[in-house]
Amino acid sequence: MRILVTGGTGYIGSHTTLELLQAGHDVVVMDNLANSSTESLNRVQELSGRTASFVQADLLDPQALEAIFAEHSPEAVIHFAGLKAVGESVAKPLHYYRNNVAGTLNLLAAMDRHDVRTIVFSSSATVYGASEEVPLVEDMPMDAVNPYGRTKEQIEDILADLGASDERWSIALLRYFNPVGAHESGRIGEDPTGVPNNLLPFVAQVAVGRREKVMVFGNDYNTPDGTGVRDYIHVMDLAAGHLAALDYIAARKGVKRWNLGTGNGSSVLEVLAAFSKAAGKDVPYEFAPRRPGDAAVSYADPSAARAELGWSAGRSLDDMCRDHWNWQKQNPQGYATQA
Ligand code: NAD
Ligand code: UFG
Repeated sequence: MRILVTGGTGYIGSHTTLELLQAGHDVVVMDNLANSSTESLNRVQELSGRTASFVQADLLDPQALEAIFAEHSPEAVIHFAGLKAVGESVAKPLHYYRNNVAGTLNLLAAMDRHDVRTIVFSSSATVYGASEEVPLVEDMPMDAVNPYGRTKEQIEDILADLGASDERWSIALLRYFNPVGAHESGRIGEDPTGVPNNLLPFVAQVAVGRREKVMVFGNDYNTPDGTGVRDYIHVMDLAAGHLAALDYIAARKGVKRWNLGTGNGSSVLEVLAAFSKAAGKDVPYEFAPRRPGDAAVSYADPSAARAELGWSAGRSLDDMCRDHWNWQKQNPQGYATQA
């Protein structure tokens, strides 16, 4: 297929673009480079031995979207582009609603005009909010607790309404749990701008010497060791999940929601231990107060994706830490260190 990948130079988009190219799909990547650089795409092309088209464009620019559809005639869209920093979304809600929600409306309008009605959307486990019931199942109510999460919830609602209004649409809403790790080559990986918000990139930057120590947010949760529990999923398993979802919806109409997680929860201390083992050195840490808005425990029931997509996430926490570390040690400053 010819696939438009929005946000394709970003973390998950670059790994998925690699998988798409390796599976023989033709890819056009569009990204405004707000949180990424084209170096990821250079490396994806080098790894796959194939080229993808790249257009630097913004979802908020309808004319640019129109030109992409006119020129490249994609048959399906995988829509990663969006802003994702929870704290920033609290500080700048309008910026987040405009970029993520209005940007998606522009994309959907362009798709409709060009008779492209197959879309895989990057949603998030964040739509489950602070639910205390685990594992999380797709039919639980959405209850996001911050503006970022509400953009995901609103886009899911928009896509569900669209699918209900017109049976020609094929829509996959993929709720990612906690994507970590990197391609096994270490050539592409996660390269956050500024201070990382998420645990794994922070741990990796401490291990490589860019930061002094990890702050563990809370050790008084009702969990076995008192620290927060999450469902970490290897980014290459996640990328494979997109291909499986695309295959599924390319052959069927309607709207589907799938959790993409492993179904296993790991605590912050378990992650620190696994990463220390992978890096062959202790990663210093200190306990700190809980981070506001954090759930104690979050992990998926991934059985729907297994049953319907024939997909499951096979890589272990040790695999995730090994590959994340391999990327970080080869690229201590991320893509800024050219190899
Ligand atoms: P990322 O920031 O690395 O990638 C997103 C890309 O979108 C970036 O390259 C950015 O430049 C681009 N972008 C943002 N706004 C744009 C716009 N208006 N026009 C064009 N391009 C734009 O993030 P990621 O981790 O790869 O996440 C991809 C998607 O998955 C996002 O929608 C994110 O919300 C979602 N998601 C991520 C996680 C996670 O923990 N990484 C978890 C759940 C869901
Ligand atoms: N944590 C620390 N120290 C840190 C960072 C995180 O102790 O420096 C802890 C958190 O308190 C939490 C766990 O590590 O218990 C994981 O935190 P992350 O920030 O890595 O991940 P979250 O589960 O909080 O949230 C992430 C994304 C959200 C997304 C969600 C579900 O940030 O955008 O996963 O996909 F919605």
